[in-house]
Amino acid sequence: VAAAMAAERGLAMVTCTAPVNIAVIKYWGKRDTDLILPINSSLSVTLHQDQLKTTTTAAASRDFTEDRLWLNGKEADVGHPRVQACLREVRRLARKRRGGGEDAAALSLSYKIHIASENNFPTAAGLASSAAGFACLVSALARLYGLEEELSEVARRGSGSACRSMFGGFVQWQRGERPDGTDSLALQVAPEMHWPELRVLVLVVSGEKKPVGSTAGMQTSVETSPLLKHRAEVVVPERLAQMMQHIQDRDFEGFGQLAMRDSNQFHATCLDTFPPIFYLTDVSRHIIALVHRYNTHHGHTKVAYTFDAGPNAVIFTLADTVAEFVEVVRRSFPPATNGDQFVRGLPVGSAALSQELLAAVVTEPMPGAVQYILHTKPGPGPQLVDDPSQHLLGADGLPRSRA
Ligand code: DP6
Repeated sequence: VAAAMAAERGLAMVTCTAPVNIAVIKYWGKRDTDLILPINSSLSVTLHQDQLKTTTTAAASRDFTEDRLWLNGKEADVGHPRVQACLREVRRLARKRRGGGEDAAALSLSYKIHIASENNFPTAAGLASSAAGFACLVSALARLYGLEEELSEVARRGSGSACRSMFGGFVQWQRGERPDGTDSLALQVAPEMHWPELRVLVLVVSGEKKPVGSTAGMQTSVETSPLLKHRAEVVVPERLAQMMQHIQDRDFEGFGQLAMRDSNQFHATCLDTFPPIFYLTDVSRHIIALVHRYNTHHGHTKVAYTFDAGPNAVIFTLADTVAEFVEVVRRSFPPATNGDQFVRGLPVGSAALSQELLAAVVTEPMPGAVQYILHTKPGPGPQLVDDPSQHLLGADGLPRSRA
């Protein structure tokens, strides 16, 4: 409504935020690279926007002479095919909704648009910024044009994993069967309040950028890995049903074990790709070994790791385990410089580690190998920002100078 009213004055502006998600049953491989249709369904947890989010402002005006885009304050190519696919789809839905008739209160579809987007976390941290970015772009555009329908299908055209960031909590991206992709969409499995004790620790490891992007990497995997084919046809359908049950039951043992196994199988398909792709580093493997030693010491699964197309670990655990496990990480990867900023995000209590725990779990410390830990939890889907002072674009439609 606000957008429509402003449209009468020639400028409409909307700001939204959207979350990052982390898959526990991984998406890897497309059956249609243009429509971004996956070879298997996937399932993710949406992370809380207090710690990780993208903010996007979309504005339309009769005074704008061309579509323009700014990412983290710098002008970027609005002609990018995936940005164009999202723009085209949102405009098509808006046109369809209006049934061709001109609604005087509605924003004119002939106006050019300006878009500004920023992350509240460093892009270099290798956290899935494209998922939050495209989910946010589509949410802001949809609000601008007054669309109310389900838009995961549009976000999917920006980046496959982005469709899962259109919902909070626990989200399934169902593979779908149709060649036109109309049934390849995201569905919420459970809201974020469903499992209040669940916590997430992102272990940001030091070091280089990832060697191969996911888009190129998964295509080579589809072309060369027999393991990936087996995974998509046989393994994932079974695991998806099991994972939904573990989430329904809030069964951390089952959830954690399956998340670790699925991450490991994803990285096995990368190794089975020819030429092989390596996303895990020595530090990633040290974290994996540490998690297994910790769980073995306690006699059950208290923490679980998962890794995407990069070396950072995402750890799932329950609230009562956070303080102890963070201390174990601090002892295993003693901070090089930023001792006071080593733990960020939600507060973490202090924990004293017993001699047995130290001896069994903290074996060969690697100083400086983990840059910092971000403590977060499951969170909601995209949000509309009501406060106009939060717009990333000024009244002139250009980026505001950043604080
Ligand atoms: C390993 O969604 O980034 O994070 O669809 O080509 O944009 P495109 O790929 P993208 O792939 C994500 C792969 C993954 C697993 C996952 O998030 O399910």
